[in-house]
Amino acid sequence: MLKLSINVNGVRREAEVEDRTLLVTALRNHFGLTGTHIGCDTAQCGACTVRLNGHAIKSCSILAAQANGGEIQTIESLASENEPLHPMQQAFNECFALQCGYCTPGMIMTAVDLVEERPGISRKEIAASIGGNLCRCTGYDSILDAIELGGKYLQQQREES
Ligand code: FES
Ligand code: FES
Repeated sequence: MLKLSINVNGVRREAEVEDRTLLVTALRNHFGLTGTHIGCDTAQCGACTVRLNGHAIKSCSILAAQANGGEIQTIESLASENEPLHPMQQAFNECFALQCGYCTPGMIMTAVDLVEERPGISRKEIAASIGGNLCRCTGYDSILDAIELGGKYLQQQREES
């Protein structure tokens, strides 16, 4: 067993987990953060994307032990229940960029990472960069619209602050 101690969404969280526990399992089963979804469990679909130490990763692709001592941001960090939506969530909402929503938390975490790391990124580059996130229902045009719009909203927010 491993004593896991990680900062999740700004809060220090600890748990005893088996050595073989995946990060996504620790987040969902030990910390109750079920906004991070499991689609394939084999690092293909991106539904489990979170940020580890500021970079988007597929949380089914690493052990919780590998994140020990690190800082994790999950979809729950973007907006609490009674808060306004995060600009990227707002953009997904406005562009109708979701249907069943299964891919959406991972898609949004990838999108936030992308536009924060590469402000002004082109639509073509966005399309190439979200290749690791699969959506089986919405269609990618509206997702690309949303990521472009979310990037603009975030830029405006930065300029106003
Ligand atoms: Fe992790 Fe699909 S559940 S990539
Ligand atoms: Fe259903 Fe993407 S909205 S999988």
